[in-house]
Amino acid sequence: MEEKEIFEKYESEVRSYCRVFNEVLDYAKGSIIKDTNGKEYIDFFCGAGAVNYGHNNDYIKEKVINYLNNDRIMHALDMYTKAKEDFIEYFETQILEPRELNYKIQFPGPTGTNAVEAALKLARKVKQRSNIWCLMGCFHGMTLGSLALTSDKESREGAGIELSNVTHIPAPYMFKNLDTIEYMQTLLDDDHSGIEKPAALILETVQAEGGIWVFENEWLQRVREFCTKNDILLIVDDIQVGCARTGTFFSFERANIIPDMVVLSKSIGGYGMPFALTLFKPELDKWLPGEHNGTFRGNQLAIVAAKAGLEFMKENNIEKEVQRKQEIVKKFLETEVKPISKDFEIRGIGLIWGIETHNGVLAKKISTECFKAGLIVERAGRDNSVVKLMPALTIDDATLLKGLNILKDTIKGTI
Ligand SMILES: Cc1ncc(COP(=O)(O)O)c(C=O)c1O
Repeated sequence: MEEKEIFEKYESEVRSYCRVFNEVLDYAKGSIIKDTNGKEYIDFFCGAGAVNYGHNNDYIKEKVINYLNNDRIMHALDMYTKAKEDFIEYFETQILEPRELNYKIQFPGPTGTNAVEAALKLARKVKQRSNIWCLMGCFHGMTLGSLALTSDKESREGAGIELSNVTHIPAPYMFKNLDTIEYMQTLLDDDHSGIEKPAALILETVQAEGGIWVFENEWLQRVREFCTKNDILLIVDDIQVGCARTGTFFSFERANIIPDMVVLSKSIGGYGMPFALTLFKPELDKWLPGEHNGTFRGNQLAIVAAKAGLEFMKENNIEKEVQRKQEIVKKFLETEVKPISKDFEIRGIGLIWGIETHNGVLAKKISTECFKAGLIVERAGRDNSVVKLMPALTIDDATLLKGLNILKDTIKGTI
């Protein structure tokens, strides 16, 4: 059978990324991926934020291989293990305590949507309210609870049933003259609003799949105040923009706010391993033993990689590095890419950036042509019109600039 034919013949039509990035990938190191023909690609996608520390990071790899070589326990449900003990200790003392955060840690199933489902279920249980508020433009996952939040039409249509118990609030960038906080307060205060008070409000501080919309610190602070004042839990979804992607480990640190719950996945698995955490203030820990369950909670090898990833991040000052590299990307996009078209807008923070083209067909063409030219860039946003850049946080400056130049030249050749 011809290369690729096997996928087309046997793999479900549901496959997606491979339709634009349509070569068979094999090797990956740092920011470079190679296909089976040996062609190299600079990776500005990073598994949608799952490999922030680069592919096959040597530091993390060594810890993972040692764990395997020593026949340490691989599967233990949620029993106590040495690997989990070491992870919790490190996470508490090196990540949470220095940031004065006090959270209980839940190990849900290993994907982002699992972490969101756990947070929703707990919020509803604690507050005894079924409604959840989220923002238009959000993405929180594809299982039914989180899909009820996820705003894009196509994903929602896949549900096949009514998606309920959720209210979508306009995102702050959508209407110039709408103060979204006042709007939410009115929904609560007006006995004719027709909207149920929620158990929680969930948001991403930077809407990633929604098209790289960075919410201002002041707005995030007002959201925090609004939630506190009205007895609504604030859940921050840091699945894509956590783990130092925006220049601080948690994306909400820049606004100096403390959410009631935080969900993490993707790069918390360190090495691209499936792993997720649901964090919440101790007083919210109203779970009964086993009330939220799952066979693959806290996968041991992922736990080992997760701790190693955190060590790597801390020891290599990744947060500071991201803040430095942010300036390189920002300057390049604003001075070299934005002038290419009057329709372009540049948005981003840290190492997540978007070029709003206002044209889904063009964005797809750019992504497709970039791939041919040796660069992997995804799309996001309404009509998928935003070309989305998410290089590894560890990318060296030369590779970063090389990728940016491929992008610029490709856009110029495509437009
Ligand atoms: C912000 C956010 N939340 C949740 C998810 C869902 O994560 P997963 O695909 O691992 O279920 C994603 C995935 O892209 C995401 O970006």
